[in-house]
Amino acid sequence: MSPRREVLSGGDGGKAADGQPGLSGPARPLDPDPDPSELAEEARLRPRHLGDFIGQEQLVEHLEILLEAARRREQPVDHLLFAGPPGLGKTSLAGVVAVEMGVGLRITSGPALVRAGDLAAILTDLHQGDVLFIDEIHRLARPVEEVLYPAMEDFQLDILIGKGPSARSIRLDLPRFTLIGATTRTGLLTGPLRDRFGFVGRLDLYAPGELQAVVTRAAGILGVEIEAAGALRIAERSRGTPRIANRLLRRVRDFVEVRAEGRVTEELAMAGLELFGVDDLGLDKVDRAILEALCRRFAGQAVGLTTLAQCIGEEPGTVEDAYEPYLLQQGLLRRTARGRVATARAFEHLGLAGAGGPGLTLALG
Ligand SMILES: Nc1ncnc2c1ncn2[C@@H]1O[C@H](COP(=O)(O)OP(=O)(O)O)[C@@H](O)[C@H]1O
Ligand SMILES: [Mg+2]
Repeated sequence: MSPRREVLSGGDGGKAADGQPGLSGPARPLDPDPDPSELAEEARLRPRHLGDFIGQEQLVEHLEILLEAARRREQPVDHLLFAGPPGLGKTSLAGVVAVEMGVGLRITSGPALVRAGDLAAILTDLHQGDVLFIDEIHRLARPVEEVLYPAMEDFQLDILIGKGPSARSIRLDLPRFTLIGATTRTGLLTGPLRDRFGFVGRLDLYAPGELQAVVTRAAGILGVEIEAAGALRIAERSRGTPRIANRLLRRVRDFVEVRAEGRVTEELAMAGLELFGVDDLGLDKVDRAILEALCRRFAGQAVGLTTLAQCIGEEPGTVEDAYEPYLLQQGLLRRTARGRVATARAFEHLGLAGAGGPGLTLALG
């Protein structure tokens, strides 16, 4: 095994500000993106080996086969693309692949690679077999993406030396490496880039039982004593997302410590979560604002994404990537050809009488 190197290149890629005044703490407890203050603790909780990676069974099985085949051929793994909502384990999986293959890991992100030269510098610094992880790969600038094509396909780098009429292009051989890209949706990638990945792995929201296992594992690492029922309560309110589950666990741990109780019981978990504004379905103020808009303001009619986003003061992309997947999974919202519709369950959850469901939209159609 060659020594592992982990290098972080560039900035954090300009995460959207989470300016949500009035919500507790620096980050919204249910924000699927990491808060800078929790990155160190998150790294501690990352699964290192495929065997520690909970859930996503089919994807893990595919990866096992891919890694084993590459090991037998004594070749680097094919380029991999991981797609899915934030906080489901894309970055963790990139690290797992590097650990399992015993190679170095280089981490950067689409927005951090401003010029073609930024990527060229990283590529020429790779060692044979290394994993290059590009987070938010859909945000690569065009000229940077064009450097990536021959690098991925032929492990070659074309660089232009000099300027003007005396400029000439030279071609460099790169070590064979594995590119791992992460994106929220594969549809955001250009066709040529998507086609150059040998394997696309989609990560789905986790089931409560899987998140319970995530919480239990994290509690073990953090030295928190937790009852199974307490872990399940946290899991149920974590919106299918391990990052959120781990964060809620830390908040509940703090709550329990302040109350000078040793163990996270079911009651303490529920009391702590309530204090942080997380309701029994794992919805926070923004989710409830989305449902309120659909149920009250638009009275159950179909609403376009942009209009809906404007109503609650969020970007359409944020609504689509960060809020909708969970609302859809919970059957609180439906996507129709004419827009988003609240379901009867949404009306019920908000304690609103009647009028919900498809009946009204049909009547209007
Ligand atoms: N399958 C998993 N098993 C255990 N913990 C996980 C799993 N997936 C994610 N996590 C936890 O969630 C956190 C966020 O995961 P990360 O890989 O950064 O997500 P993404 O890159 O998709 O946003 C990690 O710190 C890790 O502790
Ligand atoms: Mg990530």
